[in-house]
Amino acid sequence: MGSEFLLEEQRESWGSRGGFILAAVGSAVGLGNLWSFPYKLYSHGGGAFLIPYIAALIVIGIPLLILEFSIGHYTQRAAPNAFKRGHKRFEFVGWWGIILGFAIITYYPVILAYCFSFLWYSILGIFNGGELPWAGEGIEGVANAKKFFFDDYLGYQEGPALGSVRMNLVWPLIITWVAMYFCIFRGVKQVGKIVWLTVPLPWLMLLVLTVRGLTLEGSMQGLVYYLDPVWSELAKPSTWRYAFGQVFFSLSLAFGVMLTYASFLHRKSDINNNAMIIGLADFGTSFIAGLAVFATLGGMAYVTQQSGNPVSVADVATKGPSLAFVAFPYALAQLPYSAYFSFIFFFALVTLGIDSAFSITESVLASIVDKSGWRRSIVLPLLSLVGFLIGLVFITEGGLGWLDTIDGFVNGTRGIVFLGLLECVVVGWLWRIETLRRHANSNSDWKLGKWWEYLIRIFIPIVLGVLFFWQLFDDIGNESGFLRKPDGEWIVTNCVGVGVWVLVPVLAVVLSLVRGRRDIAEPSRPELELEIKGRRGGLWAFGFALVSAVLLLAALSRSVSVAAGEVVSNPLYWLMVVGGVVAVVLGNYVLEKTTTPSSQSSWLARWAGLLGIMDISVFVALVLVGFTAGLEIDESPKVISDKLGGVSYIILAVVFLILIGGLGWCFYRALAAAGKDSGIQHVDEVGD
Ligand code: PHE
Repeated sequence: MGSEFLLEEQRESWGSRGGFILAAVGSAVGLGNLWSFPYKLYSHGGGAFLIPYIAALIVIGIPLLILEFSIGHYTQRAAPNAFKRGHKRFEFVGWWGIILGFAIITYYPVILAYCFSFLWYSILGIFNGGELPWAGEGIEGVANAKKFFFDDYLGYQEGPALGSVRMNLVWPLIITWVAMYFCIFRGVKQVGKIVWLTVPLPWLMLLVLTVRGLTLEGSMQGLVYYLDPVWSELAKPSTWRYAFGQVFFSLSLAFGVMLTYASFLHRKSDINNNAMIIGLADFGTSFIAGLAVFATLGGMAYVTQQSGNPVSVADVATKGPSLAFVAFPYALAQLPYSAYFSFIFFFALVTLGIDSAFSITESVLASIVDKSGWRRSIVLPLLSLVGFLIGLVFITEGGLGWLDTIDGFVNGTRGIVFLGLLECVVVGWLWRIETLRRHANSNSDWKLGKWWEYLIRIFIPIVLGVLFFWQLFDDIGNESGFLRKPDGEWIVTNCVGVGVWVLVPVLAVVLSLVRGRRDIAEPSRPELELEIKGRRGGLWAFGFALVSAVLLLAALSRSVSVAAGEVVSNPLYWLMVVGGVVAVVLGNYVLEKTTTPSSQSSWLARWAGLLGIMDISVFVALVLVGFTAGLEIDESPKVISDKLGGVSYIILAVVFLILIGGLGWCFYRALAAAGKDSGIQHVDEVGD
């Protein structure tokens, strides 16, 4: 299979399997692991957060990673053209991800620029006899560190006004872009070499920080905050949304990054095992980064208690950038050799972030190059310049607030999760997904079963759909207003966010309509395109889905909260979803029955499945809204002791078992497969 797809042109490729794995790990492992994962875990239930997180990683993260790898590898194209291969009308799905990715490269480098600056301050500190500019004692010291970051460094002004550009941030931002430029300007072969540096280095730094953190007196106190579970958090929608959003962001899913990276893979490459290794390595890094951060915060709390000017972990561990740029720097300043460890921390951040940042640039670049046929050497400088110029918005005095808002719309349930849903639905219902599964299996160390198709076609879209609608209903029902406050005042940042959100798909469609270069290897009839014979089943399925949709819309037409209340209390409403379920099952049946591509008449079956999935998602989201509205959540603060609870030890053991067992299994399979390989492998060797 696939061999007839070999392109006539020579596409660049990674030097080695290791180069690809490291590059993908480099993209996945980024700022998200070191600062968002630890504080998300801490603020959403500690150890309890790991349940939704690991569930999302295993049932959604890794299967989707396999999906993106197989699309990229099969089509050998970056996202837009890859989706076009399936059907020319779906090119926009690829562009959608690429535009969201582009949004990220306007602000992600800004955070990297902060890291560069703080790295510089640490170096100055080392030469200044170890004194860091934000150092200070006790709780006033915390205020000091806050002031240093928000006032002195960012000159932060709250509110929608931007204010002027901060000159002290311009240089670091330029340095970031230049560094990114030099990492990728020679193409992926060179990237495959650079990542041998940018991936192991931060790991080494993290290891140093973890060992040092754990050996500090009082570190256990910090780990109590990190690991002791607060089970009641699991009843909150936000916990689940954050867990799923974090998996997407952390694995760089749905932005077309992984898809693009895989398009540069050699023909005979493993897909499934690589995806699993990358997913587990990313989770491992996040988890260990959290240990390092919280153990150090614990050490800080202990030192301040001793000095009679106590600051607890909870005093400093706030969300957002404060963790990396206030809490952690403050904690380091309380401990011996602060400037050196501060250097190690920010060096880790820089090296972690840079390969994530350039992976997005690469995917945007490859998409433009694939479509237009323009030269890399021209597109890359232009792209970098545009990215830098837009980035200036985020280094103004009001920049951080905007960064947060845009991040909230691109990332998480409103942005990528929705796109992930679209990806699954397109591939699952409108493409011949079996082709992709066989392709993924053809050279992989272990094979995917049919279950993977059902995951992509039915299960994942429903879960993501539920998350998306749940968020939407929450936004609509938000009492303090989402677009407009109750007193009528517009909430400008959210309005702009929604504007961007709406504009992205429009722009994506426009881009997909632009005529690109004629693809030399455009197959005469794309094999991914699913054509099904006419069957009455399709009509029936569609009918069911439609009835269910109409009923749901009617229920929703009054208000979300009324509908949610009724859905929960009146079992008759449950009938509404039956139509959706029947549509999905029937649609799936029709799709599986018709394997010979001949006529196209029963497109109804696909749209039935698609609509059915939406019905089910809306329904479940309504049930959840209604259910959580009546829930009393125990908000009493966590009891903090000096010792880690027994459950936390079990959590630690389970996590390490999953990580070590999982990675061990992957390597075992890789070795076993390498042993079996006689050196002559058939491209279309297919196994189920
Ligand atoms: N995965 C990266 C991180 O955790 C961020 C990223 C998102 C990179 C999307 C590429 C694409 O920081």
